[in-house]
Amino acid sequence: MKISKVVVIGSGTMGSGIAAQVANAGLEVHLLDLTTEIATKACERIEKSRPPLLMEENNLNNIKPGSIENDMGTLKDADWVVEAVVERIDIKKTLYTQIDILRKPGAIVSSNTSSIPLKVLTEDMSKEMKAVFCITHFFNPVRYMRLLELVIGPENDKEKINDLVTFGDKTLGKTVVVCNDSPGFLGNRVGVYAMQVAMTEAFKLNLSVEEADAVFGRPLGIPKTGIFGLYDLIGIDLMADVLKSFIKELPTNDPFQDVGKELPIINQLIADGYTGRKGKGGFFRINKSSGRKVLESLNYKNNTYNESKKVNLKLPEVMDVINVIERKDKYGEYAWSIIKKTILYASSLIPDVTENFNDIDDAMKCGFNWSKGPFEILNEIGINKFVSKLNQDDEIPSFIEQIIKQKNSLFKFADNNLEYFHPKHSYVPMKRPEGVISLSDIKKSSQPIYSNSSASIWEISRKSKSICVEFHTKANALDGMTSDCLMRAYDLCYDNYDGIIIANDAMQFSAGVNLNYFYDRAVNKEFKDIDIFLNNFQQSLFQLQHAKFPVVSCPSGLAIGGGYEVISQTSFIAAHSNSVLGLVESLVGLIPAGGGCKEMLRRWANHSDIKNDPKLLSLKVFNLIGYATTADSPIKAKAQKFLEEKDIIVMSKDRLIEEADNIIFSNRENYQSLDSSSFCLPGSSVMSDMMDILNELNEKKVIGEHGIEVGKKLGYMLSGGDTTPSEILTEQNLYDLEREIFIDLISQKPTQDRIRHTLDTGKPLFN
Ligand code: NAI
Repeated sequence: MKISKVVVIGSGTMGSGIAAQVANAGLEVHLLDLTTEIATKACERIEKSRPPLLMEENNLNNIKPGSIENDMGTLKDADWVVEAVVERIDIKKTLYTQIDILRKPGAIVSSNTSSIPLKVLTEDMSKEMKAVFCITHFFNPVRYMRLLELVIGPENDKEKINDLVTFGDKTLGKTVVVCNDSPGFLGNRVGVYAMQVAMTEAFKLNLSVEEADAVFGRPLGIPKTGIFGLYDLIGIDLMADVLKSFIKELPTNDPFQDVGKELPIINQLIADGYTGRKGKGGFFRINKSSGRKVLESLNYKNNTYNESKKVNLKLPEVMDVINVIERKDKYGEYAWSIIKKTILYASSLIPDVTENFNDIDDAMKCGFNWSKGPFEILNEIGINKFVSKLNQDDEIPSFIEQIIKQKNSLFKFADNNLEYFHPKHSYVPMKRPEGVISLSDIKKSSQPIYSNSSASIWEISRKSKSICVEFHTKANALDGMTSDCLMRAYDLCYDNYDGIIIANDAMQFSAGVNLNYFYDRAVNKEFKDIDIFLNNFQQSLFQLQHAKFPVVSCPSGLAIGGGYEVISQTSFIAAHSNSVLGLVESLVGLIPAGGGCKEMLRRWANHSDIKNDPKLLSLKVFNLIGYATTADSPIKAKAQKFLEEKDIIVMSKDRLIEEADNIIFSNRENYQSLDSSSFCLPGSSVMSDMMDILNELNEKKVIGEHGIEVGKKLGYMLSGGDTTPSEILTEQNLYDLEREIFIDLISQKPTQDRIRHTLDTGKPLFN
């Protein structure tokens, strides 16, 4: 059954998020609430949401607001009806009775409930409705969180469920995990448990909120909000409700009961109105002190706020669990206690809650943005080593005992297939939906064919015989080793493979070139080193752009600055629907110098707006790069030419590599490499127009003196330097000009100060 018409009932946080994602998929969706006014207001919130729930504003036209009083008739055409009203069983059940009468025969119906069991929701339903009813548990914000838990029961029509799995995966772009009907399903059961352990252990060890967040963050492969930052983000009151529901639903001997109890400090915060970021703050708050905004953190020992201080605990910058849990101090003890308890708890859920441990890993990666799931972490530590670190009184779950007894490991590679340990059948093949290629599976079943500290190359043999370059630095910042890896990939592919895929499974494809590297060289006046670095970066990308074989890049999350320069110089881009693309160098007082200026000039040169006028071309790109324009969806990126017509948009991150493989496969035989480009640029004749723009911005106090300086240099670059419209410039001429101007700017103190500010605060210095 094809799902093409959808009705969402309940237009609050989740209902509007689900409706927006259906609209992003290009489908019509009716969004109903108690009144049309409420649903219309929800549409207004969707339009204004930040980060945007819509991939482009026009998608809002796909959402039709309405009311349950007047518009339940829309159900007669709907293939899927999803209920996302308040968490009240009586309200939900009344709606189901109505839905059952009005729905199209065979239509799928689901609830987005986070805590009401499926068996309770379905207890009064007709047999026909039970067959098509399940829970579709999305995560907030729906466009960005990849996990969709589909909770099913024994009475479900399997075919219908499969239709919904395919729809969630291919059309809505979600990683669908099918779960049994048990409290919290998989994601929240393990994720909220881990959060509670992280909080209660921090209290036990008397860690400051900054210390706890520094450990329970990137070093363990967890988002940098840590635990207390995450509590504030979710909402302290909402978390308290979630915990109450777990405490009620779970048996008294469940380890959750120990960590999910009410805590006086949490009750106090809620009573004082400190419910997190949506309120006046929580564990962190912004306070105004002598006219400036100060980030303060809570000292939970005496319930006072003090200015938040960055802590330096000498932790690894990228995920390195083993290093952290082996530390012989309280931070090592903290990390180990969280990792240990989370792994033990997750293992205790097998086989009763799920027989497939990798589903828990997927749920944690896609629902909580962990880089690795608990079992992947266990695999990395090694089961024997993990067990040897346990205390006498730690109870070893039967799942782990079973693996140890059989002298087995969690994963095995057999018959060209990744297999995982299954409590009933020993090993079963890791089955992904057709077309889903997981880099993390490839990494478990093979060794890289090349690897350095910043990037690795993996072989991917599917339809085509390709190699995949994976970046793996902090925020995937690019450095000299990344350029080396790209060059190595070129050499390897030249004789042996059909093409290159550039992809990774991190949250951000790449946030740009490593600014620390530039800053250190600049303050030491090592400009020659910067020039060599940039030249290598440019040449590695030039090689790829003009290779005799296709190179496909797969951005997801941020691909900005140098990250965008990489993808813009590949033959094709398969962009995830949540990728953010753009050139942001001007924010730190620099210009793109990895081919970004050259590439935007090439992309805009033949556009109809430009009318072959070199002046218009320079001005267009001047505005685009000068304003540090980014496109927060691939649709918007097409309009800015960050993506070209030939590039494709992929809803599911899990399907990027498959799409890249398809592109390489269909191009491998008759691939035409891109000819070198030549450029006619206006030279100094356009400078006065650019100066007018800069002066106006200066008058409006948008930019200061240094902003004008950066703008002038960017203008000089984009006008081709000392050239005239009749002179023909090569790509190399523009690369040379990019490096010259970049070094000129980075040698200036105000640029260095801007970079320092960005490195220290994580934010650019505006104006
Ligand atoms: P919300 O409070 O933001 O929105 C609920 C909406 O339901 C309101 O717009 C309300 O007017 C509407 N409503 C109430 N009675 C109705 C009725 N009889 N007919 C039509 N609309 C009615 O709630 P939220 O956060 O969107 O939650 C909705 C569901 O999703 C709940 O079951 C919740 O447990 C679940 N959920 C919530 C998550 C979250 O992060 N907020 C995450 C995952 C699931």
